Amino acid sequence: MPSNDQPEKSSAAKLNRRDALKAAVLFGAAILFMPAERLAHFLFPPRPTGPITYPRQRIANTKDVPQGDSLLFEYPYEDHPSLLIHLPDGGFVAYDALCTHLGCQIHYNKDAVPGWENNPKQAFCPCHGGVFDPNTGKVLGGPPPRPQPKLKLEIDDQGEIFANGYEGGLPLFGEF
Ligand code: FES
Repeated sequence: MPSNDQPEKSSAAKLNRRDALKAAVLFGAAILFMPAERLAHFLFPPRPTGPITYPRQRIANTKDVPQGDSLLFEYPYEDHPSLLIHLPDGGFVAYDALCTHLGCQIHYNKDAVPGWENNPKQAFCPCHGGVFDPNTGKVLGGPPPRPQPKLKLEIDDQGEIFANGYEGGLPLFGEF
């Protein structure tokens, strides 16, 4: 009976090959189109339908950040950097850490930025040399078109520092 089995086996093999080919084509299409969809989402992020709300979130304790130093933390979302600065005069301020120019991460400098040797304590963006006043977030130099968004801070009796939305400067880079 081998002659009767042969066509069945051959058609089963054809089906398997066809299924495997279909799966490969679908997999390839998924690989091709998924990045395009993600790219489209990045380039044209969906607009929020209502006002954006931001969480109240503990950042650190006042003892954790020495005067004249800073701390990077994530706010208002995971992986979104913000910068807490303990000013040389003793106050605390915090800013969104994505530069308003093209979204690079800003830093608070302990050492002078070239050209700012007389006033070394600045918030600085290394990508294109954006310099910000750490007291206000205003642009002091470079291409950033507007001040850094400034966070609203609350400090309780135990010295716990909380971020609770923004005082001004919104939108965040990449938001509307
Ligand atoms: S991204 Fe900050 S100065 Fe250009």
